[in-house]
Amino acid sequence: MKLKPLVFVAGLSSIRLVSAQFRTLRFPCSQLVAERLDPFNITMDPANDISSIASCTTCRFKEDNSNYWTMVMYFRHRNGSFIRVPQIANENTGAPDGGMTIYYIEPRAPSKNLTVTTFPKGFRMRVGNPMNRRNVYAMSDAAVNQTTIRCWDGTGIGPGTPGVGALDSRGFPEGMCKGGIRSQVYFPQCWDGVNLDSEDHETHVSHPVGTPSFDGSMMFGTDCPASHPVRLPLLFMETVWDTKPFNNEEIWPEDGSQPLVWSMGDPTGYGHHADYVFGWEGDALHRAMSDEGCMTSYPGICEILTRRSDEEMARCRLAPRVEEVTEGQYIEQLPGCNPLQGGPEPATVVPDCGAVSTTIERPAPTQV
Ligand SMILES: *[C@@H]1O[C@H](CO)[C@@H](O)[C@H](O)[C@H]1NC(C)=O
Ligand SMILES: *[C@@H]1O[C@H](CO)[C@@H](O)[C@H](O)[C@H]1NC(C)=O
Ligand SMILES: *[C@@H]1O[C@H](CO)[C@@H](O)[C@H](O)[C@H]1NC(C)=O
Ligand SMILES: *[C@@H]1O[C@H](CO)[C@@H](O)[C@H](O)[C@H]1NC(C)=O
Repeated sequence: MKLKPLVFVAGLSSIRLVSAQFRTLRFPCSQLVAERLDPFNITMDPANDISSIASCTTCRFKEDNSNYWTMVMYFRHRNGSFIRVPQIANENTGAPDGGMTIYYIEPRAPSKNLTVTTFPKGFRMRVGNPMNRRNVYAMSDAAVNQTTIRCWDGTGIGPGTPGVGALDSRGFPEGMCKGGIRSQVYFPQCWDGVNLDSEDHETHVSHPVGTPSFDGSMMFGTDCPASHPVRLPLLFMETVWDTKPFNNEEIWPEDGSQPLVWSMGDPTGYGHHADYVFGWEGDALHRAMSDEGCMTSYPGICEILTRRSDEEMARCRLAPRVEEVTEGQYIEQLPGCNPLQGGPEPATVVPDCGAVSTTIERPAPTQV
């Protein structure tokens, strides 16, 4: 149902502000494949060890075979056709082939419980709701800034902590972004300690609660609620979208409407979501998060993990299973049954859709 780049991380940005203050493991994962795939439709048996099933990773560290997924962005031409917006490397990540920057951040005082559990095997979660077409959260709810977009003005990475900075918005920005767009996703960092997943992929985890930190964000320096007492690493994900080639009034819709859409037919931006399936080998994440070299240097000299070059990352591939054009040229409609649904009421699944909308096999990328 969702067209997402599937990144077998296998496999962290400008929380420059933040990473200076919080111990952080940061690394890039290049894009693996863009296809119609719903990772939560894969039967997951917690007994399966993802890290031994994946034969390669598009992430910097060989030990990380986790899956990081997000939807992809399209540009809607004034004539109604769509073209995929390319992903490009984030600052200070090397030269990955698009993809994401992944951060595992350690929470810090005044948190009451700083024992971090680096995810159990079989753990997965989703953040954001693909059906949302408006902001459904109160401004005081940590979830309100869990998924945001930074509209770069062309002068650099922009001010403030991601999520609460002056250039950040919850939906798509109204105008053109001179320097491109960075999407920013904070996963929940508190766990119920029991369930590896939940029916909605959300209720087994929670954001922290309490007073926002110095910068106005509730993601830092806040505590886990009693219902979800187990502290996880704060998983943060950034993706850079090169919207610059589309900053041209002659191809923007004549009615002045915003031309960016998420691949599940969302022209508002509020359906922004991402999924995580834990897949680190053994205790590698725990060891990395206990290592000063991995956690303190920016961008990080992490000697205890095995580094892969940009080329090796790019050579981990997964062939799309639905034969269709999804990028590189204009297409008449979004892949799958994803007509534009502008809300503000929640989007609905198209009934009796003839198109293949999800694949049910487990993806198995191979090194080429
Ligand atoms: C999973 O995929 C199958 C086969 O395509 C489909 O029938 C089912 O509705 C999907 N389930 C979910 C939760 O998307
Ligand atoms: C969300 O971000 C806005 C700035 O856009 C800020 O005013 C608000 O306090 C933030 N809310 C939370 C809960 O982080
Ligand atoms: C603190 O976190 C640990 C592991 O994350 C958990 O086992 C424990 O129950 C938590 N303690 C409290 C007082 O919430
Ligand atoms: C819209 O314009 C693009 C770029 O010129 C072109 O490739 C596409 O075929 C056009 N679509 C229609 C429906 O005319």
